[in-house]
Amino acid sequence: MKDLAPSPTTLDPIEIASIDEIRALQLERMQWSLRHAYDNVPMYKQRFDQAGVHPDDLHALTDLAKFPFTTKSDLRDNYPFGLFAVPREQIVRLHASSGTTGKPTVVGYTRNDIDMWADMVARSMRASGTKPGDIAHIAYGYGLFTGGLGAHYGAERLGCSVVPVSGGMTERQVTLIEDFRPTTIMVTPSYMLNILEQYEKAGIDPRKCSLEVGIFGAEPWTNAMRAEVEEAFDMHAVDIYGLSEILGPGVANECVETKDGLHIWEDHFYPEIIDPETDEVLHDGEMGELVFTTITKEGLPMIRYRTRDLTRLLPGTARSMRRMEKITGRSDDMIILRGVNIFPTQVEEQVLSMPELAPHFQIELTRDGRMDAMVVHVEATDKAASDQARAVAAKALTHKIKSVIGVSTTVTVGTPGSVERSQGKARRVIDKRPKE
Ligand code: DLL
Repeated sequence: MKDLAPSPTTLDPIEIASIDEIRALQLERMQWSLRHAYDNVPMYKQRFDQAGVHPDDLHALTDLAKFPFTTKSDLRDNYPFGLFAVPREQIVRLHASSGTTGKPTVVGYTRNDIDMWADMVARSMRASGTKPGDIAHIAYGYGLFTGGLGAHYGAERLGCSVVPVSGGMTERQVTLIEDFRPTTIMVTPSYMLNILEQYEKAGIDPRKCSLEVGIFGAEPWTNAMRAEVEEAFDMHAVDIYGLSEILGPGVANECVETKDGLHIWEDHFYPEIIDPETDEVLHDGEMGELVFTTITKEGLPMIRYRTRDLTRLLPGTARSMRRMEKITGRSDDMIILRGVNIFPTQVEEQVLSMPELAPHFQIELTRDGRMDAMVVHVEATDKAASDQARAVAAKALTHKIKSVIGVSTTVTVGTPGSVERSQGKARRVIDKRPKE
């Protein structure tokens, strides 16, 4: 793999500023953001008043803990534009996430917000090893999802030639990569596996393709998956994180030279980790729920937004700003099976540890009487694998899941192509248990 580490002279000065400088900037910006939310969004005024806090009470960053949380249901309750802090005419872009239940959540951006977003994605891409003048192939979905357009504006801002392919039509993705020779691809990790499969179908060696780095996010993925994709394409794979409520892609990104977790762009987003049960703020290094406060956003300021994502904060390495560990899962896609907590990423690790299995998998939950059951559907790598070979692999994976994760499961190993493929975010869990 090529050395893609950016030259320090190309970084934004704040990325390598002293911690004191970063904290001073954050305090000043956070005071502005709290006041902006309080003065312009009725919900924040009401919530702060109820909690007996005022923006003037924030004298230090730790005072943020006195302020109330914001959740996804607050966005739903104020659907569509109720949390906007500027007149609707100043909103130049809307995005929405479909969510799994109920009304979508709608987010809005002012011209300055779009500008800052482009800067943050450009910074993320630079951290990934992309340079001005590179060709960037964007296969995140375009539309109301923030992935496609968010990546697009950032890639243009960095100075790339952008190929706005969006998701789907996998054969064409391969043709375009072969013909246009991009060096960067931005796509969900699960869809990257589809592209890999298409390479194999077309009989083209993926290691010979032009790609030097993949910037993967929008869903959890493991270091085992990183190793698999890096080996298959002979390219770097780095992690990009974000969520619509806070921005979209570009809230945090891994640096290609260290690949040790994602540096949070703390000059715009202030992170906290809380205990999701007690709501208490935890120390850096402790595992819990990630909470973000936007400190520069105009259209939709978010104060202490509960992401439901589970991770921990670590000190900076390649940059001064803190890192978040790769996300293991969301509190709401954690499976509790007969008392054991399981994340799909733990299953992913076990599937990827077996070369006879393809990296595609889906988990099905059912209830038999009063007992919950979990079936893991995977498939063989080899088209010619016999029924007996697949049964042996199924037994081996069942054993690994039992010994490493601690639950008894049924495993089905199908023929290549039998597991549902994703075009964007993968659907890892199908819950067929009756609703209570
Ligand atoms: O997924 C924004 C995005 C687009 C990020 C493209 C990266 C690349 P939402 O649809 O609002 O926004 O979903 C946000 O996706 O709370 C996480 O649970 C999950 N997620 C996003 N990035 C990662 C990642 C976009 N790198 C939700 N690792 C978040 C794990 C991620 N989970």
